[in-house]
Amino acid sequence: MSKRVAVAAANWKMNKTIAEAKAYMAELAEARADIAGEAEVIIFAPFTMLMKVARGAEAAKAGVGGQDMYWKASGAYTGEVSVPMLKDAGCTHVLVGHSERRGRFGVPEPELAGDLGKVFGDTDASCNIKVKVALEGGLIPCLCVGETLAEREAGQADPIIAAQLEAGLKDVSAEQVAGMLLAYEPVWSIGTGKVCDPDEAQRICGMIRATVAKLYDQPTADAVRVLYGGSMKADNVVGLLAKADIDGGLVGGASLKVADFKPIIAACAAS
Ligand code: 13P
Repeated sequence: MSKRVAVAAANWKMNKTIAEAKAYMAELAEARADIAGEAEVIIFAPFTMLMKVARGAEAAKAGVGGQDMYWKASGAYTGEVSVPMLKDAGCTHVLVGHSERRGRFGVPEPELAGDLGKVFGDTDASCNIKVKVALEGGLIPCLCVGETLAEREAGQADPIIAAQLEAGLKDVSAEQVAGMLLAYEPVWSIGTGKVCDPDEAQRICGMIRATVAKLYDQPTADAVRVLYGGSMKADNVVGLLAKADIDGGLVGGASLKVADFKPIIAACAAS
């Protein structure tokens, strides 16, 4: 099996000002200089500050990603941002199908009951279009999958994740999948402080890789990077990265300060 370079991906979600993003990137560049070993760092930032993040990305040795996208290149789609626009802003990556974009929140959002929940409307079908259009447009998508607590308790985690993958990767070539990122983010673990047990995270990430092998072939499955996301932080990252099928982290809360994110990058570089 080829050695996969580990990925430390920051998902800032709806946080930071442009000035804070600029300061973060300068601090990240300093932090990177202290870390020996190879790790890929990606910053998924809000649209408003992508240009600023991209400006600091070379010094920080980081990729830059949008947190969502629309699949049309341009047109009458008020409020949406396209792949060419993300590229224009300096992006290399884009998140697709984060559970929050699918309207599935780790911390319950009672305010979103009923019709309001439709604000976050990604489905497996929309994720599939986004993955294909991102790839065609030259961005690397990070496709997120994962089960809710109710789905886990009903014993449905594995089939739901396999179905999310199969639908999300429909008509995507083996070569394209090999260069993508997949992220296992158990919804119940996001923003809750309840990290998934490393053995269980490994079991699911192994199942994700096996699903890619079944849909494609073993070399493709061996090449794709599978990240874990959900309450990852300095004190649990090493145990997670020690697992054979976990190739990095997609980090929310613990990515917002360089001081918290640096040990996660260092763990990736050491893994
Ligand atoms: P937390 O690290 O805050 O749990 O968020 C994980 C996540 O959703 C990253 O995309």
